[in-house]
Amino acid sequence: MARYGRLDAIHNNAAISGPSKPLHETTGEQWDQLFAINLKSIYHTTLHGVDALKASRGCILSTASMVGVLGQENHAAYVATKGALIALTKAMALDYAPFGIRVNALSPAAVWTPLLRQWVQDQPNPVATEDFLNHIHALGFCPEGDVVADVAVFLLSARARFITGVTLPVSGGAELGYRRLGTS
Ligand SMILES: NC(=O)c1ccc[n+]([C@@H]2O[C@H](COP(=O)([O-])OP(=O)(O)OC[C@H]3O[C@@H](n4cnc5c(N)ncnc54)[C@H](O)[C@@H]3O)[C@@H](O)[C@H]2O)c1
Repeated sequence: MARYGRLDAIHNNAAISGPSKPLHETTGEQWDQLFAINLKSIYHTTLHGVDALKASRGCILSTASMVGVLGQENHAAYVATKGALIALTKAMALDYAPFGIRVNALSPAAVWTPLLRQWVQDQPNPVATEDFLNHIHALGFCPEGDVVADVAVFLLSARARFITGVTLPVSGGAELGYRRLGTS
């Protein structure tokens, strides 16, 4: 605010994904850290940003994940943060609609970022895991972050001016039904 005098948007994008564990192997500290970074962060950005967004009739966008809808093995606490984020997006959309503030989320499946590259290295068979990720999207490849950035810009722009409370998949159709092996 000191530098620009206004706030047009908040994008809650930062997150961690580890540990790769089922719930009973997740420590209380790991659970708390995931919820602090992935979810309570949204409480803080909203607490400190909502007045400025009311003044600008700005937007809030959060990065969820398809796993928040579909589930994922060995990531119980991470999946819980993303499922909660999707529910929170709807509640916030209702609370802030009277102020003209739109609240949306987007859900990638897999995207080649430093987080995903590290996660692949941490898996028991990194080569097979990378191959798996390159084939889970119906559109046939695992993308770079530009596909997510384009959707973020859209949801934050006036072109999305009548969209609020949605979580938009940016998933290349990863969640669409069963596919034959070797078809993508
Ligand atoms: N990469 C994927 O395949 C994928 C899939 C689904 C969802 N997502 C989501 O996309 C978003 C971005 O992930 P990414 O893949 O770019 O991860 P990344 O690790 O490459 O980047 C995450 C960013 O969050 C920041 N961050 C982490 N903890 C922080 C903290 N405590 N305070 C401030 N900043 C912190 C990191 O510095 C980093 O810049 C996350 O919400 C993630 O859950 C990613």
